[in-house]
Amino acid sequence: MLTDSHTHLNAEQFNEDQDEMIQRALDAGVTRMVNVGFNRETIPSSIALAEKYDFIYSTVGWHPVDAIDMMPGDLGWIEELCKHEKVVAIGEIGLDYYWDKSPRDVQQRVFREQIQLARKLGMPIVIHNRDAHQDILHILKEEKAEEVGGIMHCFSGSWETAKQCLDMNFHISFGGPVTFKNAKQPKEVLAQVPLDRLLIETDAPYLTPHPFRGKRNESAYVRLVAETAAEIRGLTVDEIAEITTNNTIRLLGLK
Ligand code: NI
Repeated sequence: MLTDSHTHLNAEQFNEDQDEMIQRALDAGVTRMVNVGFNRETIPSSIALAEKYDFIYSTVGWHPVDAIDMMPGDLGWIEELCKHEKVVAIGEIGLDYYWDKSPRDVQQRVFREQIQLARKLGMPIVIHNRDAHQDILHILKEEKAEEVGGIMHCFSGSWETAKQCLDMNFHISFGGPVTFKNAKQPKEVLAQVPLDRLLIETDAPYLTPHPFRGKRNESAYVRLVAETAAEIRGLTVDEIAEITTNNTIRLLGLK
């Protein structure tokens, strides 16, 4: 009973074989997938997918890379969509200082507005963080994100940073990069995260785990992340699958 807590099944990379790819995930033992809608195009298609399959859920939010495209009214649109029974979190939201499409001040404003919305609605949030650890922590604290908590998606920071996120009521989710041989820091953090705060994900079609690194990722490969987690924690893959599935169900209110 694996759960992929963060995937993009509606990405254009799956246009040719979406149904087959979803079937491969089911065949690999994936029982639930949380699909992330993050801009004007992917939010409607993510919800459509969640309506089509009972084991797929959707998040809605505005990605920091696309922050510059957010128009007046879009926050209200997201608020409206949060009432949908298959929408389980606001995200992915956060800061991305690697790509420079959206200025940092715009990213920060859009991030803050969505945390405020999440608090208003009592929805957990899914955090995207690239090269912005300090500002992410600062804004989460200032905006009292611990009231709703959520998921640090594909966590790549230090144990010090992880501890601060745990203190603010967040779960720590690991993806493909933790399976890489040289991923010393992610493996160290995975070894220490309390088991009731541990999640696994693919972020498919990106961040493909070993041994498929460099190829297209898909939700079936969450099993490879589970295998790495099991090895590091001295548990079986089934135990990791059950723990991370129960954590995702509890946090996001999945069936
Ligand atoms: Ni993502």
